[in-house]
Amino acid sequence: MSQKRTRYAAVGTGGRVVMFTRPIVGTYQKDAELVGLCDPSEVRRTFHQKALSKEFGIPPVPTYADFDVMMKEQKPDVVIVCTPDCYHHEYIVRSLEAGADVVSEKPMTIDAEKCQAIFDAVKRTGHKVRTTFNVRWGAGPTKVRQLIEQGVIGRVMHVDFEYLLNTSHGADYFRRWHSHKEFSGGLLLHKSTHHFDLINWWINGIPETVFAMGDLVFYGKKNAVARGDETWTRYDRYTGVAEAKDDPFRLALDEDPTMREMYLNAEKETGYIRDQNVFREGVDIEDTMSVMVRYRQGAMLTYSLNTFCPREGFRASISGDRGRIEYSEEHASHIITGDAKTDGYTGPEIKLIVQKLFEGPQEISVEVLEGGHGGGDPLLQEQIFSHAATRDPYGRSAGHEQGAASLLIGAAANKSMATGLPVNINDLVTLNPSVKLLSDLI
Ligand SMILES: NC(=O)c1ccc[n+]([C@@H]2O[C@H](COP(=O)([O-])OP(=O)(O)OC[C@H]3O[C@@H](n4cnc5c(N)ncnc54)[C@H](O)[C@@H]3O)[C@@H](O)[C@H]2O)c1
Repeated sequence: MSQKRTRYAAVGTGGRVVMFTRPIVGTYQKDAELVGLCDPSEVRRTFHQKALSKEFGIPPVPTYADFDVMMKEQKPDVVIVCTPDCYHHEYIVRSLEAGADVVSEKPMTIDAEKCQAIFDAVKRTGHKVRTTFNVRWGAGPTKVRQLIEQGVIGRVMHVDFEYLLNTSHGADYFRRWHSHKEFSGGLLLHKSTHHFDLINWWINGIPETVFAMGDLVFYGKKNAVARGDETWTRYDRYTGVAEAKDDPFRLALDEDPTMREMYLNAEKETGYIRDQNVFREGVDIEDTMSVMVRYRQGAMLTYSLNTFCPREGFRASISGDRGRIEYSEEHASHIITGDAKTDGYTGPEIKLIVQKLFEGPQEISVEVLEGGHGGGDPLLQEQIFSHAATRDPYGRSAGHEQGAASLLIGAAANKSMATGLPVNINDLVTLNPSVKLLSDLI
């Protein structure tokens, strides 16, 4: 007898949700069913409803402004949480309480209190939360994990990780909700959660102590004026502003059909302005960050994130007691739009070098697969939606505890930046103290 289709509902129907809704009604339609789309914006929920019907020939998916009504009417098995980061915990807890499991976009949440609320709700209800760390699933990151697991460089002692965001993709975080800590937790939550998770997973480590510094030195009005770029500060937004015509940071919502239909046409409803000037007053997140982490098994991490670089990508140097791995990716420059075709890395250029002690360097080739995030997105989608997903030998799925192990580095870093002191993660939220390996966390 065939297994009943899993009923999915999604909350937060902005740019990202298509990563989940399209495979449900497309590739995995035999195993999965999309029973509801919830968002405060009628324009955005209807946009996705119509787009899915048009592309996949399905009847209109029911849409809801009220989450509780959707839960009551549709009784989904799983809720996909795709709202701004600050609301993730609300919908995770409400879904668990209503009897559903959850698939949450990263970061699982943005601070320790909200994380604890999720832990408590999981314990109370016995339902599950999956955090979608799609970067783990890319071909390059997976190869690095494989080499470390095989013991090629021995026991990992240190990781040096530098991430570069450019003035296109990086700037985009300063145009909208991400630019306020209240909504995103800052980029050490919103963005670095990917990187912290990747490192946790690579070295199979649980972070213990965190020290951080950060500042806003490029974006925001004050910085632009101080460097002589005052002309770029004279308007609140870019769309329809003649003065902004030659501004290299300009994003015009009316020049892209998806941007226009999803964001410009919805402004009157919710007041969400997608193209605010990156050099305006009120930006309160850091654009330059340095973090140090000590892991339970002793390994150390030095990490940096810069958001106004001329190019985009990352470089990781991993030192073990038998050798070293150097890994780098360069990504094409892009602005995240609501369009799935451009929302994600396009064709990363990967370089992977392994050098054992007393030997020469060896370059290892990595075959990049088709699909977003270096081929990671389709693999992750299969694991989430297929009833016959192949067993993943690399432990790339993450539950709420592994989701927390990443976000708590960011939360601890925020606290460290505020106090000037190192922060012990277990003073924020207790991650199972009796284990040392990330793979021992759910
Ligand atoms: N894994 C990745 O690579 C990746 C990439 C992009 C975004 N994301 C994540 O996806 C999530 C959504 O990001 P996005 O780029 O789609 O943002 P977005 O701004 O395009 O969409 C957010 C949607 O949430 C809705 N919303 C706002 N407040 C809400 C509330 N209180 N309740 C319900 N819905 C609400 C908005 O109306 C909007 O439609 C974020 O958590 C983000 O971190 C992940």
